[in-house]
Amino acid sequence: MIVWQIVIISSWALLIGPALRASHVLLLCNDSEGTSVTISVSCSKCPFSKLAPLEAILFDIDGTLCDSDPIHYYAFREMLQEIGFNNGVPITEEFFVEKISGKFNEDIGRALFPDGDHERAAKFMDDKEAMFRRLASEQLKAVDGLHKLCEWIEERGLKRAAVTNAPRANAELMISILGLTDFFQFLVVGSECERAKPFPDPYLEALNFLKASPNHTFVFEDSASGIQAGVAAGMPVVGLATRNPEKLLKEAGASLLIKDFEDPNLWAILGELDHIGKKREA
Ligand SMILES: *[C@@H]1O[C@H](CO)[C@@H](O)[C@H](O)[C@H]1NC(C)=O
Ligand SMILES: *[C@@H]1O[C@H](CO)[C@@H](O)[C@H](O)[C@H]1NC(C)=O
Ligand SMILES: [Mg+2]
Repeated sequence: MIVWQIVIISSWALLIGPALRASHVLLLCNDSEGTSVTISVSCSKCPFSKLAPLEAILFDIDGTLCDSDPIHYYAFREMLQEIGFNNGVPITEEFFVEKISGKFNEDIGRALFPDGDHERAAKFMDDKEAMFRRLASEQLKAVDGLHKLCEWIEERGLKRAAVTNAPRANAELMISILGLTDFFQFLVVGSECERAKPFPDPYLEALNFLKASPNHTFVFEDSASGIQAGVAAGMPVVGLATRNPEKLLKEAGASLLIKDFEDPNLWAILGELDHIGKKREA
């Protein structure tokens, strides 16, 4: 309700005066319960209005382009049980979200094998990735609305890159299964950077390669660690609440949470960026 009211008022204001900017107008809206609610909703959109004209969009892969976490969870659960981890009791989804999801393999290895047996940890992670690739070939699907969004990006000639903590072989396979090999102009792999996510390095590498400014770029992420990386690289982050708890994503610094790429809030922001971008070009 509130959101639509704001969208209508802000688009209207954009038409009547080039001097009025969406972020200003948004603050004038009230709803039936008082101003504070409205202000907090509109402010969550401010970081996006400031991005116009939009130059680039950066995407995490796992959990963002595709709901791959159930496949990772399955592979970890089976393989950890097989090696007698936790006395053979299968790991829970909570354990997976807290210790594994979105994290870098070396860090996961250290958390799962704290005795410092580096070789055993590395071998386990390699085997797990091989199992993931086998399962992904059969089960991986794009998050709803992804292809529509990719078309929108291509039509506007925006720059785009995939930025992941996954091993390169996994990342390339997932992008190919999703039919996005030609869409992405660049792929950044965490292990090939000085520091992986949650550090900003992979996102800074993508900006650097694309020659895009963080002031005109935003990020899609689904994990706390990835959101922290995008925010640390100076960009607003749209959090996909595909699987991880919304509270966790907000605390990590997401500016907006969406369920998938068909979310009307996302399209309202994209429409707004289009409007402001065109005004500034004119
Ligand atoms: C919003 O509410 C405040 C205080 O209740 C009021 O002063 C203001 O005029 C209202 N603004 C709009 C745009 O309705
Ligand atoms: C981004 O914007 C800030 C504040 O306006 C500015 O200080 C900074 O230099 C800009 N960064 C780039 C890379 O343009
Ligand atoms: Mg992810």
